[in-house]
Amino acid sequence: MQKLEGRIFNVVQDNIEKLKKLFPEVFTENKVDLDKLRLALGENVEKEKERYEFTWNGKTEAIQLAQKQTTGTLRPARDKSSSWDISKNLYIEGDNLEVIRILQNSYRNKIKLIYIDPPYNTGNDFIYNDDFRDNMKNYREIIEEGSKSNPETNGRFHTDWLNMIYPRLKIARNLLKDDGFIFISIDDTEVTNLKKVCDEIFGEENFLANIIWQKKTSPDARTTFSTAHDYILVYSKNIEYAKDNINALPFDEERQKSYSNPDNDPRGEWASVDLTGQVGRAPKSQFYTIKSPSGKLFPPPEGRCWALAEKTFYDLVKDNRIWFGKEGTSRPRLKKFLSEAEGTRPWTWWDNKSSGHNQEGNKELKKLFNDDLLFDNPKPTKLLKKILQITTNPNEEEYILDFFGGSSSTADAIMQLNSEDGGNRRFIIIQLPESLMEKGNDFKAASVGLKRGYKTISEIGMERIRLAGKKIINEKEGNVATNLDFGFKVFRLDDTNLKLWDEESYNLEKNLLDLVEPLKEGRSQEDVVYEILLKYGIDLTVPIEEKIIAEKTVFSVGMGYLLICLERDLTLKHIKEMAKQQPARIVFYDEGFKDDTVRTNAQQILKRYGVEDIRVI
Ligand SMILES: C[S@@+](CC[C@H](N)C(=O)[O-])C[C@H]1O[C@@H](n2cnc3c(N)ncnc32)[C@H](O)[C@@H]1O
Repeated sequence: MQKLEGRIFNVVQDNIEKLKKLFPEVFTENKVDLDKLRLALGENVEKEKERYEFTWNGKTEAIQLAQKQTTGTLRPARDKSSSWDISKNLYIEGDNLEVIRILQNSYRNKIKLIYIDPPYNTGNDFIYNDDFRDNMKNYREIIEEGSKSNPETNGRFHTDWLNMIYPRLKIARNLLKDDGFIFISIDDTEVTNLKKVCDEIFGEENFLANIIWQKKTSPDARTTFSTAHDYILVYSKNIEYAKDNINALPFDEERQKSYSNPDNDPRGEWASVDLTGQVGRAPKSQFYTIKSPSGKLFPPPEGRCWALAEKTFYDLVKDNRIWFGKEGTSRPRLKKFLSEAEGTRPWTWWDNKSSGHNQEGNKELKKLFNDDLLFDNPKPTKLLKKILQITTNPNEEEYILDFFGGSSSTADAIMQLNSEDGGNRRFIIIQLPESLMEKGNDFKAASVGLKRGYKTISEIGMERIRLAGKKIINEKEGNVATNLDFGFKVFRLDDTNLKLWDEESYNLEKNLLDLVEPLKEGRSQEDVVYEILLKYGIDLTVPIEEKIIAEKTVFSVGMGYLLICLERDLTLKHIKEMAKQQPARIVFYDEGFKDDTVRTNAQQILKRYGVEDIRVI
């Protein structure tokens, strides 16, 4: 029986496979022959030592960090979740680098939109230092001992930030769908560095916009220049799909006000537009005299023609799409219906009226928690809803990922928008369980949080989702569509549940004790089930049913697609009953069989019932 591989997606191996497909000739004995690769690429190889590149101290390590495999896992936390059994949303507590690394099997090429609002590197906002050798160990220490900040005085201010952001963006790209987008909030401190890093990771050709978001409402009198804006850098995963996937925005209130319905047209409100065109190379068919219903004649105005050919024009008259004024005596104009309008193409200037501002974000949170400031400048949901409207489709079950979750404003915006347009968007929020205690001294919001009984930012993040869901239900007086999902399944980053999959024991012979009890202390069968899902690349929200088959506990994943039995003393009777369920895949404990005869015969029995993929852990 085959062993289930303990490690998650291997980026380097994946790169090698891709290269093999493109250039099989450059491989000799499974190794890349760089000279042959150079030949295959002809003239397009940079040979100069001095070349255009963006680099910093630690870049090589940052690249390697992105490629490193992880032995971490995500453990279900039902007690912190909301509507565990039905929700398709995820809230994950942990360091985002490890978490997105783990998500690569299940969510590679699956995410439609990534929005992130990373620490801007303004002094002490960036607290977590990755450890290249063993980031899981580092994470445990930080969680147990508290956080470390990156004060400007350590002299490696930009370098540390770049080392932090680079591997995360590199992995984030793997998670995006081909028609997906990433939006990143940032300010002046790192915008130039971030742009260069993104050009490298996503490709300059995929750069779509650097949005200027007006985050303030009035200037600050104490500064030389008062900063009014943040930036939002936008990249597509693949520019070829971008044009068809960027939606126009609905007209704002002011624009909508210019629509009316003076003739009670059953198609609803409309606005009229000019119907004359430039003479230029206009064909003869656009030079004619129009006769209005009142009998008044309209030749084209001096130096102009009509924008439409005569036949098209009279077809539109028949369809009541031409307006001659209330009395029928004015120069004809075309009626444009609000219901048929495409909306406005997003542009790169987002003012605070249409996109919200910092104070609005603070107010929203204050209103939800019915208390003072709990978080420093959360993003207003108006801003996030705009990003969602531009990039996502309400009719698809699209995933939206925010791996610097903060107060969960992104989840709030997704639930609001789904409730407005009946959408099925799902969220994945990742947030470090950053201790408020650590922040208490220098962060007013943290002390308010502590006073309210929250110990970590993730606790605030989860509570916000609960409160935001309740608010929507209250406002709609319970009248919300049945497909709306206000729940979330919580998972927590931890090291692997199995002794054998641990970093230290990875290359060692199996320890005798491990044979007796493969699970680490305090870990449950359910923990292992989710770890197996992650290894197989299965969505964490698939239905899982705990069943008893021939007196043994069996987890049936995805309506019986995968069976997992982590029981011992399995006999042929048990195996046969499980085989009858005809799963596509089945997983056992390596030591779960009563004896070697059962083990050998189990495979044959399962194969007879069509189970092809049989694994042990
Ligand atoms: C600028 S805030 C995001 C605010 C959020 N957009 C909102 O509107 O509330 C950045 C967040 O990222 C979190 N964070 C920083 N480093 C992290 C890491 N390594 N993994 C996960 N979260 C992290 C911080 O705790 C902080 O809450």
